Amino acid sequence: MNARYAVRWAAEHGLPRLGFLALRGMGDPFARLMSGDEGYDDPYSLIDQLRGDGGVRVTRAGYAVFEYELCREILRDRRFGVRLPIDPSVPFPLRRYAERVVLPPNPIEPPSMFAQDPPEHGRMRKPVASAFTPRAVARLGDRVREVTAELLDAMAAHESVDLMADFAAQVPIAVIAEIMGFPAADRPLFLRWGSHVAPLLDVGISWQAHRRAMAATGAMRDYLAAHIEKLRREPGDDIFSLLVSTGDLNTTELLASANVLMGAGFETTMNLLGNAVPLLLSHSDQLDLLRAEPERWPLAIEEMLRFDTSVQMTARRVLEPVEFDGGVPLVPGKSLVVSLAGANRDPVKFPDPHRFDVTRTNAKEHLSFGTGMHGCIGASLTRLEILQALPALFERFPDIRLDGEPTRRRLSTLRGYSHMPVRLKSL
Ligand code: HEM
Repeated sequence: MNARYAVRWAAEHGLPRLGFLALRGMGDPFARLMSGDEGYDDPYSLIDQLRGDGGVRVTRAGYAVFEYELCREILRDRRFGVRLPIDPSVPFPLRRYAERVVLPPNPIEPPSMFAQDPPEHGRMRKPVASAFTPRAVARLGDRVREVTAELLDAMAAHESVDLMADFAAQVPIAVIAEIMGFPAADRPLFLRWGSHVAPLLDVGISWQAHRRAMAATGAMRDYLAAHIEKLRREPGDDIFSLLVSTGDLNTTELLASANVLMGAGFETTMNLLGNAVPLLLSHSDQLDLLRAEPERWPLAIEEMLRFDTSVQMTARRVLEPVEFDGGVPLVPGKSLVVSLAGANRDPVKFPDPHRFDVTRTNAKEHLSFGTGMHGCIGASLTRLEILQALPALFERFPDIRLDGEPTRRRLSTLRGYSHMPVRLKSL
């Protein structure tokens, strides 16, 4: 089995990785953004270079877009799909063989809704979206409040903590456990699996990272298959039990949906919560404003989503010939990177885009949750989670400070930290 995964890795990641390495050596900004320390640490100056005067950039790895209006248009345009091709420059026999290798269920593999075009997409999305009723989301809100209070109490017993492990990861993992009906004791498993699966969203990952991801997705498949069987016998009052009980999706489709919910719902929120903390601490005037006028928090959270989103990009496949005004003709079959971070820092849409300003009135128009038919199902849940957790953290620990440099994750699609030492009380 490993040999077949190796073929898939070679075609999807190994050869592009070599390509990126060579191009990075020549200073290519796209390769530097997609792989390598510079892109992980400070993507925004590379993004500005790549946006240039706007339009579609033609890169060695396909097309890429960094301009707000164009990103928005493409995400809403049916001439673009989500089933991504293996890079056409990969030799044909390898590509052909790799396309036939079936990986364990994961968020970016069909029948996941992330990887489905209409009509299959609607069939996969509808039952999941319908399970997130306003009542179900409000109930999760109550749970977030409880969990946040418990975590803050536990942290208060220490002078310093790792904010990622002790807080930013714990809030969304508790919410996902609630959505899925998982026992609390299994939470550490999801933390580990989540961190091993996250690199799959990038292009050009190492063989080691791919192997770890395959091992994690395999273990998740076994766990989730048993969980689905259990919920069929003894449904709970969680969202996933509701989804299982409707009978709209078969077991393979339920596995894919569970993967999407776990993949999309946990890592994203954890990283957003983590990114927000150094951002606020390094902009004390903005934090002071929020402390003085707490009613500003909802807009401030939109600005955090705009300024340093945890999902930096997504991708599409060109389905039909397309040509935007004054641009190059886009060739069907090629892939296109949609830089959500680029759209969010486009000066045409957001004047002075590199300034973090919690009073920015159009902050909510960011593209951090995507838009169009694949737009985020969890957007209101995320807002609710962050709105409960973040003000409570700063209220409980008014002297909170970074206690050393936070460690940035080596990922280009998901932006966040792995460790963040913080001191909770002043000495
Ligand atoms: C900071 C938090 C989050 C961010 C930044 C985020 C971002 C995104 C983005 C950008 C997309 C669109 C991807 C594309 O167009 O290719 C998306 C889709 C999705 N999100 Fe989120 N998300 C977050 C939280 C959540 C949560 C908490 C859940 C659920 C528990 C969730 C569930 C989904 C689902 C199911 C989709 C797929 C929709 C589809 O393909 O039709 N997300 N999200």
